[in-house]
Amino acid sequence: MLVGYFLLLLLTDNVTTNEDSCSYEAILNYLNLTTNTELFTLSRPVKHFKNVTKVSIEMLLSSIFDVREVDQTFISHIQIYTSWNNDHICWEPKNFCGLNSIKIPTETLWKPDLIIKEMVEKDKTPMSPYLKVDFEGSVEYSNEQVVVSSCKMHVYRFPFDVQKCNLSFMSLIHSDEELVLDFTDNNSAITNWSLNLMHTQYEWLFLELTVNKTTDHKYIGENQTIVFYTIHMKRRSVLYIANFLLPVLLFFCLDLSSFLISDSGGEKLSFKVTVMLAVTVMQLILNDILPSSSDKIPLIALFCIGIFGLMMLSLLETIFVMYLMEKDAASQNNETNKDSNLNKNKQSCFKGQQQPTEGGVLHFGKNLK
Ligand SMILES: *[C@@H]1O[C@H](CO)[C@@H](O)[C@H](O)[C@H]1NC(C)=O
Ligand SMILES: *[C@@H]1O[C@H](CO)[C@@H](O)[C@H](O)[C@H]1NC(C)=O
Ligand SMILES: *[C@@H]1O[C@H](CO)[C@@H](O)[C@H](O)[C@H]1NC(C)=O
Ligand SMILES: *[C@@H]1O[C@H](CO)[C@@H](O)[C@H](O)[C@H]1NC(C)=O
Repeated sequence: MLVGYFLLLLLTDNVTTNEDSCSYEAILNYLNLTTNTELFTLSRPVKHFKNVTKVSIEMLLSSIFDVREVDQTFISHIQIYTSWNNDHICWEPKNFCGLNSIKIPTETLWKPDLIIKEMVEKDKTPMSPYLKVDFEGSVEYSNEQVVVSSCKMHVYRFPFDVQKCNLSFMSLIHSDEELVLDFTDNNSAITNWSLNLMHTQYEWLFLELTVNKTTDHKYIGENQTIVFYTIHMKRRSVLYIANFLLPVLLFFCLDLSSFLISDSGGEKLSFKVTVMLAVTVMQLILNDILPSSSDKIPLIALFCIGIFGLMMLSLLETIFVMYLMEKDAASQNNETNKDSNLNKNKQSCFKGQQQPTEGGVLHFGKNLK
């Protein structure tokens, strides 16, 4: 009976310890993990300093917010998943009711110091508060960010252009001997996942997301891996055709149609000048959109200059024709004046007779004007 009693005691004891070990605290206590354990936060989590920490990274694009051609910035919303190994963490899920992963606050563990090289503005979105840690010591961190990054735009073919923008990830101070960056997924997979995630694309059509890596030789004898994602996107040009190219062409047609207006009087001239001013306004708008830093003059600017030049030629022609007509009229006037003088002489010869001649009438008309 005594043996039986002890057996019962042992059993209940076992059950209670088992129930205790089913909690998250059990694992934290087992690992001796508290909010500021130096072992976990201060240094790279390896047993031997020559062990390399492998950080794998995956980035997906979920929105394109803005592309500012003038100051060459690209604003996007991205999702980043990073994972690495922490050699100090390890437990047997068997001993903890099969619990194989826990989520703990971000500050409790060491994190790789990854930055985005192109970022020009501090990220305002809050950091993700938790890390996921599994029983083999693999740590996962996922985050969402709004990234304002610099991106060199090529606007030569605006508005029919395709832009490529880089987002490069690298560690700030760790070299390849300590930390190796790598990516996990291929181009088609990340492109498809990004297409599924995509919320807004602004005036762009997201084409492709590609990933690659290079090595940066920052200091002598120290190499650093850079993983860079390239976003390929195409501008939706319909609105620019409707709002810009077509109106300019229509103004040009208007200018051409003004050849039907008679050359006498100033209406034709003022009409042409008005149409030309309209094209100038269009050019001013274009100036606001395109960066002045582009090396080659964009084709659309050449198009505007071409139209403007043709309009100017037609305006000059009108001015010239009017000048010629005025000259012609002046010389005719002189002739009629002479004629009328002659007639006056004649009239003075035939005093008493009233015979108004053609020239006289013309002269009279001119004087009325
Ligand atoms: C860490 O480095 C030691 C010595 O170089 C090696 O024996 C061990 O296997 C390494 N551990 C890992 C996880 O790479
Ligand atoms: C992206 O970065 C890579 C490596 O630095 C470079 O070769 C490539 O030209 C960059 N692409 C753009 C669009 O800046
Ligand atoms: C890319 O990755 C996906 C899933 O990860 C896989 O199904 C596909 O076969 C891979 N494609 C290539 C070309 O490796
Ligand atoms: C850095 O890279 C170069 C070539 O990629 C290689 O020759 C050199 O040994 C590397 N240096 C270190 C310290 O790994």
